[in-house]
Amino acid sequence: MVKKIPDFEYGVIWEDQTSGHRIGCLDVSKKEDVEKLMKKESAVLAVQDPPYNVDINDEFGNLPLDQYMSWSEEWVDNTLNILHDNSSFYVWLGADVRSGLQPLPDFIFMMRNKPVKIRSFITMRNQRGYGTQKNWMAIRQELLYYIKGEPIFNVQAEYTDIPKKTKGYYKEIDGKITENFERSKSLTIRAGNVWHDIQQVFYLMHENIEGCFAQKPLKSAKRIIEASSNKGDVVVDFFGHSGSTLLQAELSKRKCYTMDINPNYCKIMAARLLHFRRTGETGWGRTKILKDGKILVNDEQLLGAPTLLDSV
Ligand SMILES: C[S@@+](CC[C@H](N)C(=O)[O-])C[C@H]1O[C@@H](n2cnc3c(N)ncnc32)[C@H](O)[C@@H]1O
Repeated sequence: MVKKIPDFEYGVIWEDQTSGHRIGCLDVSKKEDVEKLMKKESAVLAVQDPPYNVDINDEFGNLPLDQYMSWSEEWVDNTLNILHDNSSFYVWLGADVRSGLQPLPDFIFMMRNKPVKIRSFITMRNQRGYGTQKNWMAIRQELLYYIKGEPIFNVQAEYTDIPKKTKGYYKEIDGKITENFERSKSLTIRAGNVWHDIQQVFYLMHENIEGCFAQKPLKSAKRIIEASSNKGDVVVDFFGHSGSTLLQAELSKRKCYTMDINPNYCKIMAARLLHFRRTGETGWGRTKILKDGKILVNDEQLLGAPTLLDSV
């Protein structure tokens, strides 16, 4: 029975004995830190969600753009360095309308000089946004999808839960007029590159980690992981935070090597995984877990009461 959640400080790497995941309290902009986590292994998928160079609750700073870009180039190079010859590289990023839409376009230009090809430019719709009565509300999350070599793409992962409704689109196949539904591979629609079917995490959802301000939904992590990796593959996320990629990797039977520079987020990631294994819960719902990046609850509360799941 797991009683203790690992504690982290800079340099510590925790290795999960059950599924082989790794969590490191490390700095992605340092090549040696990334190599220390990877131990000469490569990954077929990187899902990166760096700070967007916008201050959120005084937690993520604003850098002058040139400094932010030099830093971005460092972590991008370090990531590409450990990616397999045939691999996928996803990056969540934002464009700040109050600041000339930085850093998204700058990042896209920088990536043109990297040994990868852009494959798609995805937008995810958030439910909550920010804005005033004088402007369109800002609700988009941008996701850049690059490839190195020729990675797999499991198209099945792209299908949503939204039923296909429109009949029509007749097309002649082998001399027979066929209708949309006859040709269709699924009864539901594909997500395409505008994801409007994913609920942004909020306090009423079980997966919520109250106090993680940049938590990505498990559903988007699942879509990416299952489209761009196979069972048993290594996936990486070097800006781990709430551990959505880690937990989804566990659920989808991949191995996740993840890091965060902040020891508290490393601990939350490990706790979220262990709490899930003990209780089947994907987060802590409304319970206040963190404030200003500091953990508010003790290990017992994080792990939850033992259940039968704990003994298997
Ligand atoms: C936008 S959040 C990632 C959110 C994450 N995708 C999720 O679903 O919870 C960015 C995270 O990157 C971490 N971070 C910032 N600089 C870092 C660095 N140099 N190395 C590793 N992690 C870093 C921050 O502590 C923060 O937790």
